[in-house]
Amino acid sequence: MSDTITIFDTTLRDGEQSPGCSMTTPEKLEIAKALVELGVDVIEAGFPIASPGDFEAVTQIANTFGNQTTICGLARCRTEDIDRAWDALNGAQNVRIHVFLATSAIHREFKLKMAKEEIVRRAVEMVKYTCDKMASRSDITTPNVEFSPEDAVRTELDFLTEVVEKAIDAGATTVNIPDTVGYATPNHYFKVISHLKQHVRNIDRAVISAHCHDDLGLGVANSLAAIEAGARQVECTINGLGERAGNAALEEIVMALRTRKDYYGIESRINTPRLFPTSRLVSSITGMKVQRNKAIVGQNAFAHEAGIHQHGMLQSRETYEIMRPADVGYIGQNIVLGKHSGRHAFRSRLIELGYQLDDATVQKVFDDFTALCDKIKEVSDSDIIALIENRSQATQAIWSLSSFNATAGTGSLHTAAIEATHRDGHKVQKAATGDGPIDALFRCLEEIAGIKAKLKDYTVRSVSSGTEALGEASVEVEYHERAFHGKGVSTDIIEASALAYLNALNKVLSSQDGKAIHPQHGV
Ligand code: KIV
Ligand code: ZN
Repeated sequence: MSDTITIFDTTLRDGEQSPGCSMTTPEKLEIAKALVELGVDVIEAGFPIASPGDFEAVTQIANTFGNQTTICGLARCRTEDIDRAWDALNGAQNVRIHVFLATSAIHREFKLKMAKEEIVRRAVEMVKYTCDKMASRSDITTPNVEFSPEDAVRTELDFLTEVVEKAIDAGATTVNIPDTVGYATPNHYFKVISHLKQHVRNIDRAVISAHCHDDLGLGVANSLAAIEAGARQVECTINGLGERAGNAALEEIVMALRTRKDYYGIESRINTPRLFPTSRLVSSITGMKVQRNKAIVGQNAFAHEAGIHQHGMLQSRETYEIMRPADVGYIGQNIVLGKHSGRHAFRSRLIELGYQLDDATVQKVFDDFTALCDKIKEVSDSDIIALIENRSQATQAIWSLSSFNATAGTGSLHTAAIEATHRDGHKVQKAATGDGPIDALFRCLEEIAGIKAKLKDYTVRSVSSGTEALGEASVEVEYHERAFHGKGVSTDIIEASALAYLNALNKVLSSQDGKAIHPQHGV
């Protein structure tokens, strides 16, 4: 049995299904680049038939990174889905199509209204159809086709065995066993995978894959149990992003295998020092904060507070540390830069923080940094990260804030005026009144963007300490039943709030194609 695990990242597909985590195509490309640098074996880039936006993102990712790693697209067991996935992926040198069809009794009866025989027939036909489609390309000798019996964990074992065996006969090279609703426990999932290993006649012709959701907080534990039972692919997401409670967290699985190589004897190809920067990037783009005490990538993951621990650590780090912070790319000390730090020191710190930016972007962020140094004396790592994130949002923005004015006071009516610049260069000015200066600003921005969104959440926090620190505003808005996050930073929290709202509205504008289909809906 192979002792190397295939890491299948689904941050851009299953992760994106997390409410409020929709991403624009440029954001998806940025994450795909980070995933390539991280060394994942397969990137599930999206569900091409879901919307024109998904199709476009998968196409661009396939064309840009398909010669560096395998790019995968999701499809239901329908010819239109498979054709659309193939059209999006065809530009990739290394390509996989992932077809799925639910098999559990509850899905058969209530969602699909299909009998067992029909399910088997459809799965076999569509796996064959996918293989034929891919084999039409002269450089593809063995089509890379993955089949998922959705809700496998709640499927009768004998029926699951039959479906998996027939899918392999039809040409599937990977069989994924999803715990779609996060129902499994480690021993249970171990037994399901072991059963398939023992009873699926042709199982040695395919790779078994684990796909675990975290509804019971067991996604990672279940994935590891599957690996013990013989799975050699795990599907996971950065920061455990995903629907409901999320998917199994990539960084936790990878570091468990690495730290406990003595037990599992399995390696991944992941470049682990890229874990922290990738986690930060995904969190910043999606607006999903990483909890402080999150394993591997939380801010406190390597902080030792108790005196007895610190004493032990000083004698030998291994007393309380099972992983070296550098192995996951954790930057320990919060180095402070100031107005006398030159461009060279600034660039070195960016590299240490995990950012590989081109010269033009470094120059722009450096300009923001020097402007910030005029306002605050000491600029910390958190400030620098906030500036980079702000800059990358501004670069992709449809509308950017040119200037604003807002009045605050004890009266009941507040006014705000904004001038914004469209990326085609034209400027628009608007004024509005509201319950407070923030409300008035948000109304101006909605008029400028031509969008009436519903504010669902709004928070302001300080990025570093002190009254002159950078403030970060985060908003969540709802538009046509979809949630969009926005973030903005400034030493002025009113400006940060306006930037955050504008960032969210820009995301609404960039994704106006809407999500037509959700993978868990329909056949
Ligand atoms: O959880 C699930 O069942 C899925 C499938 C589409 C593989 O994400
Ligand atoms: Zn899933």
